[in-house]
Amino acid sequence: MFITLMLFLCTSPVPHLVALEEVTSGKVTTSGDDFPPLKNDNVLRAARGEPVDRVPVWVMRQAGRYLPEFQAVRAKHDFFEVCRTPELACEVTMQPLRRFDLDASIIFSDILVIPQALGITVEMKPGVGPVLPEPLVGPADLERLNQTGTMDRLKYVGDAITMMRHMLEGRIPLYGFTGAPWTLMGYMIEGGGSKTMSKAKGWLADHPEASHKLLNILTDQVIEYLLLQVRAGAQILQVFESSAEHLSKEQYLTVALPYLKRIRDDLHRRFAEEGITPVPLTLFSKGAMHSLPEQAATGYDVIGLDWTIDPEEARRLVGPNVTLQGNLDPQDMYKPKEELRELVLTMVRKFGKHRYIANLGHGITPQTPIESMEVLVQAVHDAL
Ligand SMILES: *[C@@H]1O[C@H](CO)[C@@H](O)[C@H](O)[C@H]1NC(C)=O
Ligand SMILES: *[C@@H]1O[C@H](CO)[C@@H](O)[C@H](O)[C@H]1NC(C)=O
Repeated sequence: MFITLMLFLCTSPVPHLVALEEVTSGKVTTSGDDFPPLKNDNVLRAARGEPVDRVPVWVMRQAGRYLPEFQAVRAKHDFFEVCRTPELACEVTMQPLRRFDLDASIIFSDILVIPQALGITVEMKPGVGPVLPEPLVGPADLERLNQTGTMDRLKYVGDAITMMRHMLEGRIPLYGFTGAPWTLMGYMIEGGGSKTMSKAKGWLADHPEASHKLLNILTDQVIEYLLLQVRAGAQILQVFESSAEHLSKEQYLTVALPYLKRIRDDLHRRFAEEGITPVPLTLFSKGAMHSLPEQAATGYDVIGLDWTIDPEEARRLVGPNVTLQGNLDPQDMYKPKEELRELVLTMVRKFGKHRYIANLGHGITPQTPIESMEVLVQAVHDAL
C-alpha cells in the first residue's frame, strides 16, 4: 500500500517509505522469489533474442539533471548521499518513470562507488564532476586499496535495488550496473575525468605490471559487485567501459576486453555455482566501435553502441546472435520535435524489431528538453 502511495507523492522529493524496513527486517527476502511478477519484460526478451511486443527503450542517465524534480532532490542532498540512501536513490530512479513510458529502469548510483569502497575518496563537485583528491600516483599506492569488506561497504546499493524492485511493482525490469576496470582505473589515477587520460595511459606504458594488477583487483570487485546487485534483485546488468574512447584498438583488446570477458565468464560460473538464474549482461564500450566483432565474441548478451556507427553496419559486424542497444546521438535531442522523430524512426527501422533495445549512444545531457524524451519514447514505440 505504501508503495502504491509513493507513486502519487511526486511533489515530495523524499516520500515516507516502509519498504526498506520490510526488506532489512527479513520480512521480504532478497531471493527475488517474492518480487511482484514482471509485466513488461520486453527488454529481457530482446536481450535473450525472443520476440517482443514493441521495441523497448530506456535512456542512459534517464534519472538525471534534465529533470527539475531530480535537481530538487540534489538541491537538498549531496550526490553520494542520494546514492547511499535507498529512499533517495529509489525516488530519483522512479522520477523518469512517472513521466515517460519507458521499458526499463536503472538503479541510480555511480560507477565510482567501487573506488570509494576500496578506500579512495570521491567527491562530486558541482559543475566539475567527480573529483578524487588522493589519486593513485605510483604502483606503491596499490597498497592503499582495501579489498576487505568492500561488499559490506556497498550494501546500500543492494538495499536500494531490493527496495526499487518492490516500488516498481513489476512494471518494468531493473538494471544494475558497474564501471568497467579500465574506466575505473582511469578515474583513480587521473583523480577525476580527463580529456586525455595521459596519466592512466602513462601507467600502461611505464608500469605495465602494476596496471594489470590494478585491473585485476578492479575486475574481482566488479564481479562481486554485480553478484551483489543480482542477489538484491537486478534483472539485467550493464558494464560501462565509458573511457574506452581513449584507447587504441590494440590497447582496447589488451587492457579492456580481456577483463570484460573475465567479468562475463566468472559471473556465469558464479551464477551456476550459486544456483542463481543468469541475468542478461550488457557491455557498453564508448568509443570502441572499432572492435565490435571482438566484443560480440565475449559472450555478453547485449552490446551497447555509441552514435558513431550505423545500425546496419553494427549488425553486420556482430552477427545475428547478439542484441544491440543504442545509439542516437544525445545531441539529436536538441533538434526540433519533427526532425528528432524522423531520426528516431529511421534509426529503429534500421535496427529492426529483433534483438534490439533502443537507447541513446551515451548519457542524456543536462539541458535536454523534457519533450524530447517524450518524442523519443513515442517514436521508438511507433516505428515498427
Ligand atoms: C580494511 O577494511 C576492513 C573492513 O572494514 C577493516 O577491518 C580493516 O581495518 C581495513 N584495513 C585497512 C588496512 O585499513
Ligand atoms: C547463431 O546461433 C545459431 C543458433 O544457435 C547458430 O546456428 C548460428 O551458427 C549462430 N551464428 C553465428 C554467426 O554465430
